[in-house]
Order: sequence, then structure tokens, then C-alpha cells
Amino acid sequence: MAENYTELIERAKEHFGELLEQQLARVERIKHQGDFIDYSSLDKLVIGVVGGDGIGPAITHEAKRILEFLLSKELKSGRVELRTIEGLTIENRIAQRKAIPDDVLEELLKCHVILKGPTTTPSRVDDAPNIESANVAMRRELDLFANVRPVRVPSEGIDWVFFRENTEGAYVLGSCGIEVTDDLAVDFTVTTTQGTERIVRLAFEYAKRNGINRVSAVTKANVIKTTDGKFLEIAYKIAAEYPDIQFDDWYIDIMTAKLIDKERRSQFRVFVLPNLYGDILTDEAAEFQGGVGTAGSANIGKRYAMFEAIHGSAPRMVKEGRAQYADPTSIIRAGAMLLDHVGFKGRADRLHMALDICGQYEKRLVITGRASGATSAEYADYIMETLELPDLKERWQSYTS
Ligand code: IPM
Ligand code: MG
Repeated sequence: MAENYTELIERAKEHFGELLEQQLARVERIKHQGDFIDYSSLDKLVIGVVGGDGIGPAITHEAKRILEFLLSKELKSGRVELRTIEGLTIENRIAQRKAIPDDVLEELLKCHVILKGPTTTPSRVDDAPNIESANVAMRRELDLFANVRPVRVPSEGIDWVFFRENTEGAYVLGSCGIEVTDDLAVDFTVTTTQGTERIVRLAFEYAKRNGINRVSAVTKANVIKTTDGKFLEIAYKIAAEYPDIQFDDWYIDIMTAKLIDKERRSQFRVFVLPNLYGDILTDEAAEFQGGVGTAGSANIGKRYAMFEAIHGSAPRMVKEGRAQYADPTSIIRAGAMLLDHVGFKGRADRLHMALDICGQYEKRLVITGRASGATSAEYADYIMETLELPDLKERWQSYTS
């Protein structure tokens, strides 16, 4: 080995040592974590609303209008507060060189749940400082370990819920890799016992509670032997605690293919998978439902929960002056998931139905992303009109049965 590498390797080892210390400390924190928060015991539920950047503020504004509409009684009585949190913009984040500026994080920590618009995530080839993703940072800072993403296409028999691990895998140290030399870059992927157990258990508990008899794990444990191998081993161990639920395991490559197999895909119900595979597979899955613009995403932790659109901030739409035509469906879906999570299940169900009716069946207004389609505001009005229909449920049933 060339002599001049010794120092570089030592530096890399030191960096690696620090990462291990941080991860071991995180494991200890998970071990001592309490149970899930009980929203019904709160005097006041604080919902933080974060616009994000790009098309984020525009579509989040529409989702907020719908929450105001559905929660008008609770907002008036003070049982619920919708609190707008400014400052999670790419400009501010770059100026402060922080994935989440400190003052924004402080505000987020005062909320119980958060509705968040998309935020821009620079990469190394972009013409901007390569700061960490605000999503990834928020998931980590608030310990939002479960990314829950439902995808439904009733006419195709698709009724899936993805439980994507959200605080580990390839993401947790995604901004902490090592450029050992000019020629060698190394990233890390992390699996912990505690982190895997809690996501797998949540998936099984969800299946059990909803009378679903199948859970499928997706990994690449045949190649990524240590971390994915551990994830899968733990999944099998937990599956054994649920003998009434069928458990099977798939590799990510073949699962990606099976999702386009019309015969097979409708047999899947609940998926549990490490972070990166969950990221990829949920975009593919959402495409069957009408694209990433249509799917919502819940980021659940024991103390906090954050609900967001699964798509990005579409800076190009803003640059081309088309932000007002952005599809608000995904962030409104996220709003429905938020309502469900905090205990307003009836209203959440109605909102899901209205979104299905407007987006998949009646389509009286369509969003095209351009002046040829409706604006986000018109579309949100359409959803609210649909919510007011006395026969909303019957209509939805007639379309979906
Ligand atoms: C998602 C997004 C994020 C992710 C990005 C924006 C960092 O793609 O929520 O799926 O990769 O998790
Ligand atoms: Mg994604």
C-alpha cells in the first residue's frame, strides 16, 4: 500500500468510529422509548403546517383549506390548532447550511403532528450546496420510524399498504459517507434489531387489526447479507408470533417485476421493507394509482407523526410559472391520513372517498399541471363540494364495487 494512504485511512476509521458511536447511542434511545402518544388525552392537538418549497406552499395551502373545512368545529372550540410554520425553504436551508434550520426544528417539536409540503433535495451534481434532505432529517430528528404508504386501485384489485422503515437503511448515514481518497467513496447502510423489530411489528399489527392475512417482506438479503439479512431474519422471527398471518419474503428485483404482473399483484396486501427499497417500490406502486401525485405518505413515530406528499417539489413547474396548476391530491391524501391518525376516522374516510371519486371516477375536473387543466384551488374546491354530497358514501360504493 502506498505510504500516503495511511493517514487517509486513519481519518476514515476515525470517522467510522464516530458513526458507530452515534448509531449505538440511537439504539439505546430506541430501547428506552415509551409507547405511542394518545391523542385523545390531549387538551389541544397542535397540527403544524409546513409549506416546503417549489410547488409545496401552493398545494399545502389547498390541503390546509380542506383541513380547516373538515375541522371547523374543533378549530373554533380550540381543541385543535393549525399552526403554520415558516422557514423550511430551500433558500433558508441553504443560507443556514442546515437540512432543518434550528428555529424551524424548535417549532416542529412543539407540534403533535405535522403536514409537510415537499422540500427540495439537492444532490452532488446540482448547482447548490449539497445539504441533507429535509425529509430525511425530519424523519431522523422526530424519530418517525414508519413510513406508511397506502396504494389503492379498487378496479384492479390493488389494495396495498407499504411499511417502509424510515430511520435506518441506506438513508440514515446517507450524508455521512466517506471520501477516503479522490478515487474511493464509501457509504454505509444500517440495520438494528430494535429498528427492525418496531417496523415489522407495526406492519403485522396493522394487518391483524384490519383482518389482513398476508404480510410480505422485501429485501435483497441474498446479496446485502449483513444488514438486509438481519432485517429478514428479524421479520421471520416476528412473523412467527402471528401464526394466522401468512408471511413471505421477496427480493426487491423480482418484487419490482411482480408489481406489474396483473395476476399476482392483487394478492399482495401489506409490505414491510428497508428504507431504500421502500422509497423505490412505493413510487412504482403509486404509478398504478395515477402517479406519485396521488399518493400520501405517513411518517409515524411514537411521539410525533408527519404527513406528506410522496412527490418532490417540482421546481421546474415553478420556474415555468405553472405552480398554480400543481396536483394537490397527494398532500390532501396525506391530510386524510393525518386525520385518521389523530382519531378523526370518519372524516378521514370521507376525504379518501372524495379524493377517489374526484381523481379516479367522476373526474369532473382534471389536473394536467398546465393551463389545460384545473388549478389546485379549483380542484380543492371540487373536493370540498364532493365532501358535502349527502350520498358521498353510496356514490363511492357504486364506483368501487
Ligand atoms: C420520498 C422522497 C424522499 C425519500 C426524498 C425527497 C429524500 O423520495 O419521500 O420518498 O427518498 O425518502
Ligand atoms: Mg421517494
